Amino acid sequence: MITSVNAQSLQEKRQKYQYNYTHLPPVAMVDKLSEEEQFSSRWRLMIAKVGFAILVNTIIVNRGDRGKAGAADDVKAFLIETFKETLAGRQWIARFKILWQGAKFTPRLLFGRLSTDVEDLENLIKDIISSVSGDFLKEFAANVQQKLKLDSPKGRGDDLKDFQDLFQTIELPAVAYTYETDEMFASMRVAGPNPVMLERLTAPEPRFPVTDAHYQGVMGDSDSLAAAYGEGRLYIANYGILDGALNGSFPAEQKYLYAPLALFAVPKVGDRRLRPVAIQCGQDPDRFPILTPQSNPYAWLCAKTIVQVADANFHEAVTHLARTHLFIGPFAIATHRQLPDSHPLSLLLRPHFQGMLAINNEAQAKLIAAGGGVNKILAATIDASRVFAVLGVQTYGFNSAMFPLQLQQRGVDDADNLPIYPYRDDGILIWEAIYDWVADYLKLYYADDAAVRQDTHLQAWAQELIAHDGGRVIEFGETNGKLQTLAYLIDAITLIIFTASAQHAAVNFPQKDLMSFTPAMPTASYAALEKLGDETTEADYLSLLPPLNQAQEQLKLLHLLGSVHFSELGRYDNGHFEETQVESPLQRFQNRLDEITEIIHQRNRDRPTYEYLLPKNIPQSINI
Ligand SMILES: [Fe+2]
Repeated sequence: MITSVNAQSLQEKRQKYQYNYTHLPPVAMVDKLSEEEQFSSRWRLMIAKVGFAILVNTIIVNRGDRGKAGAADDVKAFLIETFKETLAGRQWIARFKILWQGAKFTPRLLFGRLSTDVEDLENLIKDIISSVSGDFLKEFAANVQQKLKLDSPKGRGDDLKDFQDLFQTIELPAVAYTYETDEMFASMRVAGPNPVMLERLTAPEPRFPVTDAHYQGVMGDSDSLAAAYGEGRLYIANYGILDGALNGSFPAEQKYLYAPLALFAVPKVGDRRLRPVAIQCGQDPDRFPILTPQSNPYAWLCAKTIVQVADANFHEAVTHLARTHLFIGPFAIATHRQLPDSHPLSLLLRPHFQGMLAINNEAQAKLIAAGGGVNKILAATIDASRVFAVLGVQTYGFNSAMFPLQLQQRGVDDADNLPIYPYRDDGILIWEAIYDWVADYLKLYYADDAAVRQDTHLQAWAQELIAHDGGRVIEFGETNGKLQTLAYLIDAITLIIFTASAQHAAVNFPQKDLMSFTPAMPTASYAALEKLGDETTEADYLSLLPPLNQAQEQLKLLHLLGSVHFSELGRYDNGHFEETQVESPLQRFQNRLDEITEIIHQRNRDRPTYEYLLPKNIPQSINI
């Protein structure tokens, strides 16, 4: 029922939440961020802490460990030096003012009377921030960045140790020790940052003429391609969408992006983990040879790296940005514009949108803007990367994005043929838990399909989501985009909550562990290597990898993005749901998540550890 209070507050909300189609045309994003949608101070503090850890690491890497009392000491020396330089650039009155305002810290700063512990360092930084003016702080921060940039590692890595050395106070991720193995390469497809590429191959792919000789060289003479096709044990990762993308060169060097095809198989017996069989580094078999684990080891390593580069680019633009951040954005906007705050669906969904419009807005303004982080580290030009993101949205119809359906459509839902697939197996548990919670919850408010059809707010919400001057969501709703049944509403809300929580967690957090050590998953390659084969050398491999300053940029950005767990799935704020009837369904949901935690721990004893879908590692919403 539309009461006058509701109508009034919806009116206000519609002013605050407006659509914009030009930030990333033609995707629907929020136009301007309202006060309520700004990042919370708790979120800012979490970012500041990670940012500080990255700063410390960068200072030690770029300027060296100067061998005094430890990292904190080196960092302090650097900050003091930069502070003094920034101060020296000001006129004496301004200098005096800053020193006067900062009476608490200036003696320590200027005379170096600082103890060497990190806490003191953090206090010093807090003192600086709270005492000096905003413009001085900006100049100080810019000087810090500038000085670090001048000292950043130069040129290409001579060996892998150069890449390992980029980690000084930040721990080197475990993948640094295993990424060159075929096991890890295969594991990336089923438990990596982009675990959505594999598709079952049921007939030969003409663009990728793998022969029995290739196949048996890897899988043994007792197996054959025909048998593997027949039994559904062959899987392909095809990066054809990247074919023809313009290669970028920002900020300083030519980058290369390939559109490879990779074939994997599951052995019939024995260790039934997925194994890589063959890679072709481009879509045209006349131009790109087929390589296998039997090829020259550096040619094979280059081929795997080229797949990793393609996977990283698809991951960031399509799987991560488009199909979680941008996919969910319109739902947050339409919810505020069409559902009163007291509406049960608004109450259920809002915690799953927390911080998302802010991070999406930040992304469009900085991260995916020309000259931003994506432009720096991804392989294609920024325009091409932005087009991938738009394509990622436009080719991901809502109704076919249902998690079980996605698995089915890719032919990877069968655990007999593809036994080890942690993302699928843990994802299904979480999907079903969310489904049960959503079903229990919505049934409290909708007795039947008629109740769904008669809820005018809900119907207006659905209409706005698909409207051209609304959310532009593709393939949403039942007939004519209307919501007709309770069953559909439950599916739809399950998908929204699952994508905002579990799906985003599965693709966001591996950025830190699996993508920040650049050789394991470079976001761009830096050499034109079309003729991989017997002549390929270690030097060719190293030439493919990013220059060290670019590797450091990748480390900084992906470590940051993979480090902020703001909330936890199923843990709503105390008193969020006021009605007592919600208590027991919510309790059931939380209990089920506890059980799932146990199941995942149990599974991890018998498979390579996969923890991205452990409930405690899944935030409620997308906010990083
Ligand atoms: Fe994210």
